[in-house]
Amino acid sequence: MSLLTQSPAWLALKNHQSAMAQQSIHDLFRQDSQRFEEFSLLFDEVLFDFSKQPVTSETIDLLIALARQQNMENWIEQMFQGKKINSTEDRAALHVALRSKKPFFLDGEDVTLKVKSVCNKIARFSSAIRSGEHTGYSGKAFTDIVNIGIGGSDLGPLMVTEALKPYGSTQLKPHFVSNIDGTQIHETLSRLDPATTLFIVASKTFTTQETITNAHSARTWFLAQGGSENDIARHFVAVSTNLAAVKQFGIHPDNMFEFWDWVGGRYSLWSAIGLPIALTIGMDHFNALLAGANAMDQHFATTALEKNIPVILGLIAVWQINFNGVTSHAVLPYDQYLHRFPAYLQQLEMESNGKRINRNGEEIDYHTGIVIWGEPGTNGQHAFYQLLHQGTQTISADFLAPCQSQHPIGNHHHLLMANYFAQTEALMCGKHGNEVRAELQSKGMTAELTEKLLPHKIHPGNHATTSILFRKLDPKTLGALIALYEHKVFVQSVIWNINPFDQWGVELGKELAGQILPELEQAESVTRHDASTNGLINFFKENQ
Ligand code: F6P
Repeated sequence: MSLLTQSPAWLALKNHQSAMAQQSIHDLFRQDSQRFEEFSLLFDEVLFDFSKQPVTSETIDLLIALARQQNMENWIEQMFQGKKINSTEDRAALHVALRSKKPFFLDGEDVTLKVKSVCNKIARFSSAIRSGEHTGYSGKAFTDIVNIGIGGSDLGPLMVTEALKPYGSTQLKPHFVSNIDGTQIHETLSRLDPATTLFIVASKTFTTQETITNAHSARTWFLAQGGSENDIARHFVAVSTNLAAVKQFGIHPDNMFEFWDWVGGRYSLWSAIGLPIALTIGMDHFNALLAGANAMDQHFATTALEKNIPVILGLIAVWQINFNGVTSHAVLPYDQYLHRFPAYLQQLEMESNGKRINRNGEEIDYHTGIVIWGEPGTNGQHAFYQLLHQGTQTISADFLAPCQSQHPIGNHHHLLMANYFAQTEALMCGKHGNEVRAELQSKGMTAELTEKLLPHKIHPGNHATTSILFRKLDPKTLGALIALYEHKVFVQSVIWNINPFDQWGVELGKELAGQILPELEQAESVTRHDASTNGLINFFKENQ
């Protein structure tokens, strides 16, 4: 048994859960007319309503006690002080410094000075590209940007440029190539003109196979389609922490935008990795995104745990995963512009908290990160909500929506929002036997058929959701929302005593792929693997 699961705060929550299981979330509303006021928090123009979670003030008190037992305030302080909390890589996790106006010290050096200098370089470069001052080899202004990167060097800029499309340039279209599957780069490049295409090769390490392979393919395409070796410098820039590898690839250091090892890949959109964002929405909007994140950082660093929104969301997730048996968490944006938000959060949460060894190197006996998934409403309603309403799994969900649509067409936004409000209500209240019976009888159904259909039409309800409702999806609000989730992930990691900033689990597959590649290129059958892997490889070789 781990220290955590034997600790007083954990055991108190376990006891409390047995009592809480006796009542439904809907019962909690019946008992307390102030429940919405008590269990919702306002941050700037964003409302967080967690009153439809199975919590009472006692639950929150017990969760806060757990947070204090795990030294939450101290861990938050350590992060903001640049302590090397990424212990397995001996690094700080200082993404908050990327959006700070105040100095941040790491090993005695104020890192915000370097950040500012790279920011200025991004500002100059994006303004030159956007204004047409910096052109492609034919003298025409750039029309397309291709970001070549994967994981954190792709998902953040991709999600943000999609989310902030209304703020984007109509002259400059961003494209994202991540997959080693050549289909993606082939499909992307076949529609582009090399004379007006700018390539950003984005890789923290500059060793990632997918990115380097795609970058070489892009270079070959560029040269084959009319560009010359001399034009490469105008059309290819790099974003990385690895100057030597960038030079070796053939990109001049002047065309490199630097960031640092204290920025984790999945926390890097605020750094030079955000270059496609600055190019697409302009520096003012990029700065507003940073300001929104910084405002959330201030809230996280200075607000008492009881009113601290990332802390509360993280603790509720712990409550649901470790005490209420939640097996997956859906992120359901009722805003089409946020259509890549669930994919972005998948990496943020699952790569960070998908861990089974604690900070002391011991195997743990409690659940950590769970599966994160989702699709925009209302598409999800017509695909997987059936399982949310009547399935057997315990799934929690965040429902996000803007009060104001950016493109109001007819009454679409009211129709969308009616669904947004209806779903969390339906998930919580359900529809019980007596209501279903009365409804069927009022439609003139026979008693026999009514009883036959009855169980199928019952919605048990009592499904927990958090609603996040904001005025408008502008850069500042988006920045705050992303930072909120970053900190929520950190809060969970502190409770679970795991390091959320490494990702050793992705290494094994990469290693084995490296060994298999030559086997695909040799003529003989493969025999050295397990029978299944041998069989699959040999079938592939015979049929390619
Ligand atoms: O998948 C592992 C990972 O290291 C991610 O953490 C990272 O975001 C991604 O690969 C890309 O890495 P890089 O930016 O170094 O190419």
